[in-house]
Amino acid sequence: MNRNISLYEAIGGHETLRLIVDAFYPKVQAHPLLGPLFPEDIDPVKEKQYLFLTQFFGGPMLYSDRYGHPMMRARHLPFPITPERAEAWLDCMRRALREVGIDERLQEIVIDRLSGPAHHFVNTTEEET
Ligand code: HEM
Repeated sequence: MNRNISLYEAIGGHETLRLIVDAFYPKVQAHPLLGPLFPEDIDPVKEKQYLFLTQFFGGPMLYSDRYGHPMMRARHLPFPITPERAEAWLDCMRRALREVGIDERLQEIVIDRLSGPAHHFVNTTEEET
C-alpha cells in the first residue's frame, strides 16, 4: 500500500465504505450472538458506522463533526460485549470485506485496525452473560 494515502482512500473512499457497511449489518443481524443486541431499525446504526469508519480509516471527520468525541468504548458500555462477541463482530466484518471484494492485503489491514478497538470494547466475561 502507498504509505502516503489513507486506508480510507486505499479501500476506495465513501462508495466502498457504504458497500462494506451494507454488507456488514445483515451478517450482524443474522448472527445469534450479535443480532439480539441491535435494534430492528438498523439504518441509523449503519449511518453512524459509515460516519465513524470514514474518520477511523483516515477520511473526513464525519462522525465527530456530528456527534462530538467518539468515546466508542463508553458508547458500547450499555451492551454486554464478551470476547466471543468481539470475535463474532470481526468475523462479520471479515466476511463483508470479502463479499465486497476488497483486496486481500487490505482486508488484513482493515481487520488488524479493527481488532484493537473490538477487544478494547469487551466489558464483560462469557460467564456473566
Ligand atoms: C466488539 C464487538 C461489538 C459489538 C457487540 C458492538 C455492538 C454495538 C451495539 C449494540 C451498538 C448500538 C446499536 C444501537 O444504536 O442501538 C453499537 C454501536 C456502534 N458501534 Fe459497535 N459493537 C462492537 C464493535 C464495534 C467496533 C470494533 C466498532 C468500530 C471500531 C464499532 C462501532 C460502532 C459505532 C460507530 C456505533 C454507533 C455509536 C453511536 O451511537 O453513535 N463497534 N455497537
